Amino acid sequence: MKKRVGILTSGGDCPGLNATIRGAAKALYQRLGSTVEIIGISNGYAGLIHGDWRMMQPQEFSGILTVGGTILGTKRTPFKLMRVIGPDDVDKVEAMKRNYKEMKLDCLLCLGGNGTHKTANLLAEEGLNIIGLPKTIDNDIFGTDVTFGFHSAVDIATEAIDRVHTTAGSHSRCMVVELMGNKAGWLTLYAGIAGGADIILIPELPYAIENICTAVEKRAKEGKTFSIVAVAEGVMDAEEARMKKKERAARRAQEGITTATSRIARQLEDMTGFETRVCVPGHMQRGGGPSPYDRVLATQFGTYAAKMVENETYGVTVAMRNNHVSVNPLSDIAGKTRLVPEDHGMLGVARRMGICMG
Ligand code: F6P
Repeated sequence: MKKRVGILTSGGDCPGLNATIRGAAKALYQRLGSTVEIIGISNGYAGLIHGDWRMMQPQEFSGILTVGGTILGTKRTPFKLMRVIGPDDVDKVEAMKRNYKEMKLDCLLCLGGNGTHKTANLLAEEGLNIIGLPKTIDNDIFGTDVTFGFHSAVDIATEAIDRVHTTAGSHSRCMVVELMGNKAGWLTLYAGIAGGADIILIPELPYAIENICTAVEKRAKEGKTFSIVAVAEGVMDAEEARMKKKERAARRAQEGITTATSRIARQLEDMTGFETRVCVPGHMQRGGGPSPYDRVLATQFGTYAAKMVENETYGVTVAMRNNHVSVNPLSDIAGKTRLVPEDHGMLGVARRMGICMG
């Protein structure tokens, strides 16, 4: 009996997508030989909606372990719009079900982050055989200790912090490095510690600018003429944390800023007199090939997904818990976000190091 497996990558890309695709494909061919057929769906759920897919050949999965991005292409197709019929008059959910049937799939692997998993769960509820794989540099998927892409991004962000260190030292400046992470501060916390940042600001812990200034001034009194602030893009001060999203945007528009980072830099310079610069590595954090750690993790996850295909275990997503690969039901994790908890050990490490957390 032939087995047809579909694969798609959805949401923001990250290093390790190809390595995961490769892990799943190679393990499937290894175990099921020529009885397995793999269909690549282009640009995530958009390709599933519009029937944009192709039969893949085994050799297409070779030579991609170290390649960044995704050979399948990706797109953000917001979950909240999945049940909304737009001007094109396409019922997206029905179209996805129809194309799944037309492709004669036995199951579909959905590689992606939180949004991808919400739609994956919706499709599972609609009766499709779905297996999720947790990807994101944000490391914020519920039920897994780590997602692929995260550690590669930590490496890149750490390098950015390392590099601004020398220029900050030469010029006796404060450098504010804005890292990705709108809701979750994992990337900033890890890269901040790895890069020796003096101040680490994450969305989970609203900051007070006075505390940041005090930390910089304390360092100056100790003879340290520069300071490095690692800030997650989604940080808020205590006042903003109490506001609704719209109020927050209005306040920022009034101040002539779009991000908290620029406000922090301006206030820091005004209040301490230290010349301050902002550095935004941006999408560099998602670019390039996966680190060795992520190559291993992606291979673990991909091969485990292949095992789930073989066992016909569907409606789940692959996860790493206490160093063991396993699965969680999609319905348990969809719609939840894994934020840095207040009592997380890594926050304790940062505080014991004297790092100001805002
Ligand atoms: O979810 C991953 C992520 O990189 C976030 O950290 C960041 O806020 C967002 O994607 C950026 O999205 P886009 O690729 O649409 O600019």
